[in-house]
Amino acid sequence: MRIGIIGYGSMGRMITEKIAASVVLNAGDIFVANRSKEKLQNVPEGVIACENIIDAAKNSDIIFLCVRPVDLKSVLSEIAPSLSAKSFVVSLNGSITFDMLSKVFSGKIAKVIPSVTAEVDRSQTLVCYNDSVEEKDKQDLEGLLRTFGNVIELPENEIGMGSELVSCMPGFIASIFDVLCTSAKKHTSIPDDQVVKMVLQTMCATGDLMLSKDMSFEDVVTRVATKGGITEEGTKVVYEGFPNTTDLLFEKTLEKRKLTAEKAKETFEEE
Ligand SMILES: NC(=O)c1ccc[n+]([C@@H]2O[C@H](COP(=O)([O-])OP(=O)(O)OC[C@H]3O[C@@H](n4cnc5c(N)ncnc54)[C@H](OP(=O)(O)O)[C@@H]3O)[C@@H](O)[C@H]2O)c1
Repeated sequence: MRIGIIGYGSMGRMITEKIAASVVLNAGDIFVANRSKEKLQNVPEGVIACENIIDAAKNSDIIFLCVRPVDLKSVLSEIAPSLSAKSFVVSLNGSITFDMLSKVFSGKIAKVIPSVTAEVDRSQTLVCYNDSVEEKDKQDLEGLLRTFGNVIELPENEIGMGSELVSCMPGFIASIFDVLCTSAKKHTSIPDDQVVKMVLQTMCATGDLMLSKDMSFEDVVTRVATKGGITEEGTKVVYEGFPNTTDLLFEKTLEKRKLTAEKAKETFEEE
């Protein structure tokens, strides 16, 4: 199997580096192309840096389009004449629908949404497929995606909320714990960086505990917040005050997601 990676920015570079470092593919079977050539100076050893996007696409079985939505239509239009019925196009963008993409390329298409946690091989990567994709194509693609974490298949209409839960979530988690640590620091002389490390290690361990022991959030709260105790004072505050914030968070992000999709559609439909 050969793969083409078009767009060597944040996502294209991450995918290239992870797959090149894995045993699933030889680095020499990875063809990358980017608009500005400077970015290709540091591709992993053995990976082929192509002169143009057609070279990256024409001999590849799976072609990853790792460009921003504004560039997606022109990139797909440029490579489409070099693709065949066997070509499998993978778009990294959640806002451009299969309907829009298939107006330019009518073959096999997937959408893939990785998370920044791919950097530590723990992405919960979302994937959805159009009707032309066969079981073997899915296995091939998911084998590549598993080099940087788990793969979760969702229907296209759930990719938006799914992205909130895995792709946006590292940002939500980081901002929530940033606020928590800022409050904690007001009440202690423990150095700031130590406060952050203590909370982060406890956060990761709590997640591991829940996953390994199959515990719910309620199980953890009940286990730690004994009736009439100190922790219960804190968990009560969270359950009383925090739902307003989280409801607002999803209202705002989903609204923004809708606007982004409308804008992406306009960009994609422009002549
Ligand atoms: N970043 C994330 O966490 C994340 C997560 C999930 C999904 N995504 C999606 O992944 C896609 C890529 O995002 P990104 O963060 O990787 O963007 P990025 O860092 O801006 O990278 C995009 C790359 O595409 C290149 N490019 C643009 N037009 C091109 C063309 N005609 N031919 C060849 N290369 C071209 C750009 O080249 P130049 O160097 O010339 O600008 C740039 O290197 C987006 O659709 C985004 O929505 C991103």
